[in-house]
Amino acid sequence: MANQSVTLPQDFFFGAALSGPQTEGAWQSFGKIENIWDTWSNLNLGDFHNRVGSYAGNDMTRHMQEDFELFASLGFASVRTSIQWARLMDADGKLNPEGAAYYHKLFATAREAGVEPFVNLYHFDMPAYLLRRGGWESREVVEAYATYATTAFAEFGQEIEHWFTFNEPIVEPEQRYEHGRWYPFIHDFGRARIAQYHISLAHALAVDAFRNLQAAGMVRADARIGLINCFTPPYTRDNPSAADLEAVRMTDGINNRWWLDLVTEGTLPQDVVDTLAERGVHLPTRAGDEQILARGTVDWLGFNYYHPARVQAPEHDVDEHGNPVFAQEYVWPDAVMNESRGWEIYPKGIYDFATTMTRDYPDLEWFVSENGIGIEEDRAERDEQGRICDGAYRVPFVRDHLAWIARAIDEGAKCRGYHYWGAIDCWSWNNAFKNRYGFVEVDLAHDYKRVPKESSDWIRRVATTHVVE
Ligand code: FCB
Repeated sequence: MANQSVTLPQDFFFGAALSGPQTEGAWQSFGKIENIWDTWSNLNLGDFHNRVGSYAGNDMTRHMQEDFELFASLGFASVRTSIQWARLMDADGKLNPEGAAYYHKLFATAREAGVEPFVNLYHFDMPAYLLRRGGWESREVVEAYATYATTAFAEFGQEIEHWFTFNEPIVEPEQRYEHGRWYPFIHDFGRARIAQYHISLAHALAVDAFRNLQAAGMVRADARIGLINCFTPPYTRDNPSAADLEAVRMTDGINNRWWLDLVTEGTLPQDVVDTLAERGVHLPTRAGDEQILARGTVDWLGFNYYHPARVQAPEHDVDEHGNPVFAQEYVWPDAVMNESRGWEIYPKGIYDFATTMTRDYPDLEWFVSENGIGIEEDRAERDEQGRICDGAYRVPFVRDHLAWIARAIDEGAKCRGYHYWGAIDCWSWNNAFKNRYGFVEVDLAHDYKRVPKESSDWIRRVATTHVVE
């Protein structure tokens, strides 16, 4: 694919993906209360790369206008960010007017620069007091999320056209509850699935509230709602055993089909639920839940793509924490790795997954809602103008993914656009600013100054001409 020039449809959109907690900073201003990242930062700053916690984001609050103008100058028509629950709502679960004013200004600033804001409601950033009340393991928190979502739709319903309930709802169950990598560091597969189930209900309740407010005229008639997930196209070894294929089925089932069935059918995949039950993992279902989930069908979907899932049959059925194991990693000998992040680079995965969606969910419209490459300190080579020389790796990465997207579209995929993750460098959770993703640098040594990188010229050409060279 690499050396052919391809053209994407003229109505295909280009934009940037960001999130509130990774950019805004101003962690104690505009009435924002503590969120789960602030709790972790306060608890142990040493867990964050270079001890950079959640407090400052990439300082976008002070750079808002400049940032949106930069996106526009890159040829981007839209930018997705998120509202922070801990900023929009106060500690009593009521609208915080200062937080609301903050987001009205953010969205207006984007529009003035000519960039359409896409708004997501949740990006791993639960208010701290709700984690103390049980987090995603608690129905009370599911209800609190529904109230928050309803409040956001009512407040911004006339302004915002593109809404999303969650970003990567699979990530908190995995990182916080299953693999114990993120605060509160739990290693419990069953609790992870409880969180996953409750997030699914929360999503469906939000979609339901959205539809009701739209019918009542409080949300604009042309608004659409979706869900964004980091889908991982699944692969296993050549000539797989039945057990390898089982590993694929469950990995795909939990990471991908769970969400795809929810957003297209309003159900959860029964084969996955059954296998979980056989292994003693029971979802906390209640009477009436099926009707709630049935409301979870969306208008379109966001596909964040970073890497595939390569799995094989596990050596052990149970891990050292007593958790059931359904798959283990398969190390593909031909894998090309992004060593900074430990993620495989496999552009064709985007095409394979697109093909699966076209086959299994033919009516579903979608866009690539995140894709990008984070390189440690961007290797920090600079040209005479002081710009970071990232062209040799960032350009081929994006080009190859776009080329596979173009091919999928030619073959019928309903992919409408591409948002690049972290188009301006931003804070990446516990990795903080270690891996840089941007077409634009954030210079931490000079007050978060924005400096375009070499790759910015290339993406501008692509986004404005739709020709991928
Ligand atoms: C994704 C997240 C996003 C960012 C990228 C690199 O999983 O959605 O917040 O950290 O990874």
